[in-house]
Amino acid sequence: MDRHTHNRHPHAWFESVVSPLVVTAGLAAMILDTAVEPESALDRPLEIVVIAAAVVLTMEFIIRFWTVPASWLREYHGPWQARVHYLLSPRGAIDAAGALAFPLGLVIAPDHQDAQLFVIVWVLKYLLHSTGLTLLMRVALRARAALFSVMTLFFVVFVGAATLAYVFERNAQPAVFGSVPRAMWWAIVTLTTTGYGDMVPATIWGRLLAGWVMVGGIAVFALWAGIIANAFSEELRRRDFLRTWDFVAHVPFFQNLGAAAIADIVKLLHTRDASKGTVLFRQGQPGDSMYFIVSGEVSVNIATGSTTLGPGEFFGEMALLFGVPRSATVVVSRSSLLLVLDIANFRELAGQRPQLITTIETEAKRRRDANLAI
Ligand code: CMP
Repeated sequence: MDRHTHNRHPHAWFESVVSPLVVTAGLAAMILDTAVEPESALDRPLEIVVIAAAVVLTMEFIIRFWTVPASWLREYHGPWQARVHYLLSPRGAIDAAGALAFPLGLVIAPDHQDAQLFVIVWVLKYLLHSTGLTLLMRVALRARAALFSVMTLFFVVFVGAATLAYVFERNAQPAVFGSVPRAMWWAIVTLTTTGYGDMVPATIWGRLLAGWVMVGGIAVFALWAGIIANAFSEELRRRDFLRTWDFVAHVPFFQNLGAAAIADIVKLLHTRDASKGTVLFRQGQPGDSMYFIVSGEVSVNIATGSTTLGPGEFFGEMALLFGVPRSATVVVSRSSLLLVLDIANFRELAGQRPQLITTIETEAKRRRDANLAI
């Protein structure tokens, strides 16, 4: 991933702080400059800010292009291959476009003021800082079939509504609804429930149609939003599933199970990061979940003393098995990654994999006897 996006560039501070600031200042100056008169005293300073930003971003591009860190040299055959890779990556392409924007503007637009407008491509640099973008793209890709169906539906309603509006309104308002393409403007404005009001049906049939189209528009967008929301949650669940799978496979307790059994268990567990000092639960509280330690360490504090449990071990099982309050207070003594099994899923696991619960039970009994013996 890094190899292609070049995220881990040595000038990371420049990338995360200076570059966005320069981009923001340059874009703000360009936008403000369109609002001030050319004779205004502000015009020159704003232009200077845009030019200064263009110079900095061009230098950034040249330096990035030219300096090839040693770590990349190991991955590529020579510095030029690394440079070409950089240019072809999204990061490199956006940097290059940013550097070329202003000079290209000067060549294409005769007016200096218009040449500045080309720096609008700098907005693309914000995309490089947006970490959620890949997630969004995956979601769109995952839901593409459903989204495409909704778009088709939208298209059918759009063309149908424009044609009907033309049929109903052409005699009453020939200047406004005189052709299907003209009626299409009305259809899109109505279907998106924007309603500029520049084209309004006058006949009863035209108005009835307008009502249906507006409701249809809302329904289409609601469908669209629902599909995206659902795809988002599925994608997040899938990520969590993969992460949990990885952790479950690292807990020795589950290691001897087959892939099918692990897949069943992964669905029942969720991960929890707990920082040092977190009290997971206190002695005497009712118990609603048990935990497996993937990494880190917890301290189990019983009235008579304390023990520590580490990676691969589990705790919190006694309350679930024996239906009694927590026998100890458990505090995270080293930042830990835990797999949590709540009581409902614990029962489900007991039904699905009784031998696992037997192993847990044997250890729980041993612990209970040990506590009683003290
Ligand atoms: P539970 O009673 O649900 O909550 C406290 C947990 O501490 C308990 O389950 C066990 O998992 C754990 N625990 C209690 N006593 C011991 C012990 N002697 N050694 C290790 N762990 C213990």
